Amino acid sequence: MVKAVVLGAAGGIGQPLALLLKASPLVDQLGLYDIVNTPGVAADLSHIATPAKVEGYLPPDDGLKKALTGADVVVIPAGVPRKPGMTRDDLFKINAGIVRDLATGIATVAPKAFILVISNPVNSTVPIVAEVLKKHGVFDPKRLFGVTTLDVVRASTFVAEVINDLSVASKVVVPVVGGHSGVTIVPLLSQSSHPLPSSFSQDQLQALTTRVQFGGDEVVKAKDGAGSATLSMAYAGAEFAVKVISAIKGETGIVAPSYVHLSADKTSGDALKKEIGKDLEYFSAPVVIGAEGVVEIKPLGKLTDFEKGLIQAAIPELETNIEKGVSFIGGSK
Ligand code: NAD
Ligand code: LMR
Repeated sequence: MVKAVVLGAAGGIGQPLALLLKASPLVDQLGLYDIVNTPGVAADLSHIATPAKVEGYLPPDDGLKKALTGADVVVIPAGVPRKPGMTRDDLFKINAGIVRDLATGIATVAPKAFILVISNPVNSTVPIVAEVLKKHGVFDPKRLFGVTTLDVVRASTFVAEVINDLSVASKVVVPVVGGHSGVTIVPLLSQSSHPLPSSFSQDQLQALTTRVQFGGDEVVKAKDGAGSATLSMAYAGAEFAVKVISAIKGETGIVAPSYVHLSADKTSGDALKKEIGKDLEYFSAPVVIGAEGVVEIKPLGKLTDFEKGLIQAAIPELETNIEKGVSFIGGSK
């Protein structure tokens, strides 16, 4: 039996994500928590003829505690989204406190749950969750994931567009590593399962890389003040959550990209630090996930000089973002 919980379930991401989780036969129980509207969202979803039993909670009467009780997987899309002109880091002021408080709930009620963080800025909110869990003595780096799947979904789609065949989009695999903001998003296009056309120039490669790095801005601009990616994020978040749930249910060989603490698997984490030439605490890479969490962090493998440059350009911002999250909770390295 798997209970999945969505914190921020009434939001732009939360609602379609909850829908996709309700549609999954792998979910047995679905807990929905938000500061508004969850009873309505839960009532609505509960009429769908799939196995998951749906419950919706608001803050009064220990709603967060009730939602989290028995949770195996907690997905967090709670928090404010960007408006045009903002960076993800501009969201820190509001979202850091929201994520801290939700993480405190998880630490006390469901300390063994797998935690999937969507709330931005992911590069900092994941360290916030880790520091809260550490303060409660329940941090297990194998079970904490920053959700970077949307970057991977975008890379697949944009490569399929370049090769002019959207029918292969879901089969195109492109590792996207680093973090989840601007230059920290590093698509390794040289490792795309569907190679780029041989006529592809360095300028075109740069343009495609930039498009993946700033794909979120495309949506923020098009929504024109009404928020950021919600539907594609819900798709990506559900894809990642279902992989995690499959792993919990015993499926082996599951690999998914995620932003993780590099101690999640010490041997492979240390090897990755060596590859990037920096002792970073967190980095996103494809990870092997098993029933107990992260089994292995995959190496980056052979990189082009261009990609090596992108990784080096990502490191300073990642370092700053990580430190900002850690010091918000008062932790130290
Ligand atoms: P939204 O405003 O539509 O929804 C957010 C929801 O969070 C709202 O329903 C709100 O009531 C709820 N909320 C606020 N404070 C809360 C609290 N203390 N407890 C529980 N719920 C609370 O925003 P959205 O478009 O769904 O985006 C949510 C977050 O996801 C943003 O921070 C956004 O930047 C981020 N995001 C991340 C990715 C990614 O790739 N990781 C992609 C898209 C968006
Ligand atoms: C995205 O990549 O779409 C999200 O991180 C939302 C944003 O602010 O761009």
